[in-house]
Amino acid sequence: MSALLRAEGIGKAYGRTPALVDADLTVRAGEVVAVMGPSGSGKSTLLHCLAGIVRPDTGTVTYDGRDLTTMSDAARSALRRGDFGFVFQFGQLVPELTCVENVALPLRLGGERRRAAERRAHEWLERLEAADAAGRRPGEVSGGQAQRVAVARALVTAPRVVFADEPTGALDSLNGERVMRLLGEAARDTGAAVVLVTHEPRVAAYSDREVVVRDGRIRDLMGAP
Ligand SMILES: Nc1ncnc2c1ncn2[C@@H]1O[C@H](COP(=O)(O)OP(=O)(O)O)[C@@H](O)[C@H]1O
Ligand SMILES: [Mg+2]
Repeated sequence: MSALLRAEGIGKAYGRTPALVDADLTVRAGEVVAVMGPSGSGKSTLLHCLAGIVRPDTGTVTYDGRDLTTMSDAARSALRRGDFGFVFQFGQLVPELTCVENVALPLRLGGERRRAAERRAHEWLERLEAADAAGRRPGEVSGGQAQRVAVARALVTAPRVVFADEPTGALDSLNGERVMRLLGEAARDTGAAVVLVTHEPRVAAYSDREVVVRDGRIRDLMGAP
């Protein structure tokens, strides 16, 4: 299968600290790739470059045949809103909104009417076994529930790639497994590819393949074209 997302020779330094060095990674449509490696090795930097959040100093990132590194900020933002979904370690839900409003938010930002957006948000909350959370604010639900709400929010727009950065890092193992099982099932059902950053081998077990980042360098044994 051909590449949906491809990083070639990307490098990024913060001041004199090289965070990423000459990194290559290929993600095919629908595959779940786990990015492993110790803390500080460059995993988040890689994910941010792949997602068009950070522009690498060197190299190229191609998504669906388009070069993210030369695209305008506006075009990259539009791509992120339309084609990508994000799950972070601490859900990063909007505290003032209820959970169903949080899940509906990406649809509302895309111009959907409130009723239609919230109907779909409810469906996604049910799918993520978080229907109970719908009318509550993020501060009123458990950590595991909040992360399932965050996954629902990431998937509600039917993204082609979901970027998840340590999505279970703040959860106990039981809740972490549940989040990963539901994220994995949802991705498989919708055909979304997942780039999953984790340092937990247990979580990486949900992936189709693993790559390892060490000192900003990546080993992607299977990713060669
Ligand atoms: N915004 C930043 N400013 C300065 N240094 C950063 C920044 N982001 C990351 N770094 C540095 O880059 C290296 C890689 O960080 P990161 O990609 O966050 O690693 P990981 O996600 O594997 O823990 C680390 O040395 C980190 O301190
Ligand atoms: Mg990180």
